[in-house]
Amino acid sequence: MRKKLPLLLALLALPAAAEDTRLLAELKPAAQETLRKEMLDNLIALNSIISLLAANQVKEAGEVAEKELGRSAMGKNATLPFEARPGPQMPREMHQLAINGHLVASDFARAAASGERDKALAELPNLLGTCVACHATYRTR
Ligand code: HEC
Repeated sequence: MRKKLPLLLALLALPAAAEDTRLLAELKPAAQETLRKEMLDNLIALNSIISLLAANQVKEAGEVAEKELGRSAMGKNATLPFEARPGPQMPREMHQLAINGHLVASDFARAAASGERDKALAELPNLLGTCVACHATYRTR
């Protein structure tokens, strides 16, 4: 029971529970659409990663993290027209968070490549932390 308290507090502190004070990132509609699709894929990737960790398939979890979220997933919108590319339209600090998210995912992937679940688990909060940091700070509408 005691373990659940921090989670409860975190939920109460969610921006959605109060007035929305997040910063508005004004992305063009095409870029918002690209971002939204990418985000849905992010969640699917995260679900795969956690499922694989639970099944003790640690290296596989790292491979998914690298391919879908890590450095390897950077720059995949570079061939889209500018108006459909979210990265360059983001405020600088937000873009930095996005880049950091990729780097942290690669850190997780490296830890998971060892095959040691505890090592990988130790990096998981950083990985999720970048999702939370950006969502808690920015909105697009
Ligand atoms: C750099 C900022 C940033 C990072 C990092 C980030 N997100 Fe998002 N995410 C957003 C924004 C902005 C939206 C709202 C997009 C919109 O609707 O225009 C969003 C929306 C979403 C949505 C809702 C999609 C929908 O259908 O409306 C999901 C799910 C999501 N993010 C998952 C994740 C996960 C999982 C991670 C981490 C692996 C992550 N995001 C990391 C900025 C970010």
